[in-house]
Amino acid sequence: MTGEECVALVPTKIGPRVAGLIGAAALAVVIVMPTQAVSVPQPVSFQKQVLPIFQEHCVACHSPGGAGYISVDMDLRSYKALRSGSAGGIAVIPFHPRSSPLMRVLDDDWSSSNINSLRMPPMGPKLSPDDLKTISEWIKQGAKDN
Ligand code: HEC
Repeated sequence: MTGEECVALVPTKIGPRVAGLIGAAALAVVIVMPTQAVSVPQPVSFQKQVLPIFQEHCVACHSPGGAGYISVDMDLRSYKALRSGSAGGIAVIPFHPRSSPLMRVLDDDWSSSNINSLRMPPMGPKLSPDDLKTISEWIKQGAKDN
């Protein structure tokens, strides 16, 4: 429709003030929406979001009696255990997912052509992009006990 037709559709009974308000409201929606789209990510909870990923994919090996627990002393049953790292050192560097050894074995090393790269879980499959994002975002937010 043309601009004139559009204006003609606005009921003539509402005064310019009301029309102005409607216009302002419409404008507000337009301004607010993109802000929400790029808003700060929601806080990621270790207990509710990260730990369940470990329980499903890692704890069988990374708890007493498991291969990863026995060979490198890495326990993934709790926040405290994860933060205490493994025989090889710390696993998580708060605020720095890219330099955290945990993200290396979960993500970066999977794209390495070096067959000796440490990939977790060792037999795959690689964690889903959503799971990787959750863990990485949690580290980025400070790897809190939340
Ligand atoms: C099938 C058993 C198994 C599963 C499942 C498994 N791991 Fe492991 N993990 C191991 C073993 C064995 C090692 C030691 C490997 C080595 O050093 O060669 C290890 C090593 C690691 C290390 C390195 C520790 C260090 O000192 O270098 C990290 C980190 C790790 N695993 C995290 C995970 C995470 C997170 C998961 C789940 C996504 C997972 N693992 C699933 C067996 C497993």
